[in-house]
Amino acid sequence: MYPFMGQFKCYKILTVGLVFLVWIIYLQMFWPDSITYRPPGPRPVSKFASSFMEPSFLLDSLPQVLSNLTSLLYWPPTPGDGAKLLASTSPQTSTYHLKGPTQASYTLGGYLEAVLVARDHWGRPKTHGGDLFRAQLLGLELKAGVPGDVQDLENGTYHLSFPLLWAGRAQVQVRLVHSSEAVGVLRRIWREKRATVDFRGYFRGIQGHEETVICNIDPQSTGAKRSTCQYKDAVSGELWFCAQPPTLPCDSLVGHSSGSYLKVTTRHDEDLLAWNVTDKLLSQGISPILVRPAAPINTSLALSPRPPCRPGLLAPKPSGFYHQNVWHSLACSSRSFPTTDSILGCLAGRIVHMMGDSTLRQWWEYLRDTVPSLKPVNLHVTYQVGPLMAVDTTRGIVLHWRAHSWPLRSLRTPVASLHSVVRELAGLAGGPHTVVVLGLGAHFTTFPPSIFVRRLAGIRAAVTALLAREPSTLVVIKLANTGYKSVYGSDWFTLQVNRLLRAAFSGLRVAFVDAWEMTSSLALPDNIHPGKLIVRNEVDLLLSFICPT
Ligand SMILES: *[C@@H]1O[C@H](CO)[C@@H](O)[C@H](O)[C@H]1NC(C)=O
Ligand SMILES: *[C@@H]1O[C@H](CO)[C@@H](O)[C@H](O)[C@H]1NC(C)=O
Ligand SMILES: *[C@@H]1O[C@H](CO)[C@@H](O)[C@H](O)[C@H]1NC(C)=O
Ligand SMILES: *[C@@H]1O[C@H](CO)[C@@H](O)[C@H](O)[C@H]1NC(C)=O
Repeated sequence: MYPFMGQFKCYKILTVGLVFLVWIIYLQMFWPDSITYRPPGPRPVSKFASSFMEPSFLLDSLPQVLSNLTSLLYWPPTPGDGAKLLASTSPQTSTYHLKGPTQASYTLGGYLEAVLVARDHWGRPKTHGGDLFRAQLLGLELKAGVPGDVQDLENGTYHLSFPLLWAGRAQVQVRLVHSSEAVGVLRRIWREKRATVDFRGYFRGIQGHEETVICNIDPQSTGAKRSTCQYKDAVSGELWFCAQPPTLPCDSLVGHSSGSYLKVTTRHDEDLLAWNVTDKLLSQGISPILVRPAAPINTSLALSPRPPCRPGLLAPKPSGFYHQNVWHSLACSSRSFPTTDSILGCLAGRIVHMMGDSTLRQWWEYLRDTVPSLKPVNLHVTYQVGPLMAVDTTRGIVLHWRAHSWPLRSLRTPVASLHSVVRELAGLAGGPHTVVVLGLGAHFTTFPPSIFVRRLAGIRAAVTALLAREPSTLVVIKLANTGYKSVYGSDWFTLQVNRLLRAAFSGLRVAFVDAWEMTSSLALPDNIHPGKLIVRNEVDLLLSFICPT
């Protein structure tokens, strides 16, 4: 027996066929074809949420909030599968204009409204929606910005709305991230592919002999010819599969790493997702505007009194904006922590457990790099998955980070270091000095949404239990940020993943850091690993929840 497999129960499965069949039924049930091809009109009604016999080893009961995927992931359909590139939405011919007459100036606290008309490469207006546009209002001189709301009217026109939150100059900017036809490709991938990446599993025998195989989230995607090894997390029940190694037993799995990106697109798909039509700026449709304070009050920001930051607050849309490179939450009175003393004063006596992906590791790294007295203690750990720890023994601060478990893409890492988030949460006592930060999503875009839904259902249950044990525990959820622009990760996938994250934690006393909005409000290029300016603001919002006053 290999002691390092203690956290997993592993089984050898000979009847791959049966598992595969069950898996197919499961996937179809959660991502039925019918939702994509419905004609435009009222939002489709879920027919599958509760009435199915669920294979219980794959799916314990989903919480109500996550059961209605049809409604959660609703996106206007793209008719005519296989649209030609020329008939797809073009960033060059699509235009936008002010909804009303031009005004000499606008009033702080009001709105700017605009209409966007999507057109194809021939210049013909589109007659259906589904394009992914991103709109911003920018105040370049004031280092200000806010995401605009883009409402898809599903007939080729879009309503844009921007809150006017700072006094001074402001400029609308709109980008076409993906045409509806390109979204159609992404949606087809989510519906038809079990996985668009694979992984490697490294097995080691008693004498040090190693064997490497393909692993994945379902048995079929391991490419196994005969049997597979199944790993079931002892606490969370999460599953992982590897092809059976040629000679070594299933319980000799010691290492994990990313594998290959699988080919999932045709030539035609690639045209639709080509760089010169993805994430392209539309030409300026609205001249810069001037926003003036509403007399007689002379303030530069439209910030009404807000409650101190605490978990469980409802998120307004947008959830905040930048001014002078500082993010101001519209949900609560977020604070800045400009000095190391202010950060230390806030963190004193706390133990912070961060679990997630590398975008959350950036928070840990920011604090380590910004606060000299926070000393990283495990300098010898070079694994991308952690665990990482930094401490300030004088002030009693402990800062943990560790990667979420499979399906993490990483360099080779010990399997024993991959802990499921659910298992980690189950091991926390919680309390007023405990802060839990979760940041998942970016590694789930390469699988159908049902995979992430099932993971979230387990995490929601674990968070619910933690808050029941110790209601004073602070739980903060970092949403996934913008940046991906490929068929493996795309902003469209991320947007959907964020809808699932919001839904999964709805109704719980948790706080959200909307990293999506925080990375799409300034005139900065998207980056899956955002720069220090953004990370500082994300961490300041976390600290605002830890130290609201
Ligand atoms: C799913 O959501 C849609 C739209 O909100 C709603 O009309 C429908 O009743 C929901 N279905 C279930 C089973 O809750
Ligand atoms: C699109 O729909 C909106 C809202 O129903 C309507 O006001 C607008 O006139 C429509 N535009 C076109 C081009 O059909
Ligand atoms: C995109 O680039 C390809 C190859 O360079 C070119 O043939 C095509 O016309 C371009 N499309 C647009 C919309 O610019
Ligand atoms: C309003 O405040 C700005 C600086 O905040 C100042 O420059 C300006 O003179 C003030 N305007 C009035 C009318 O008080």
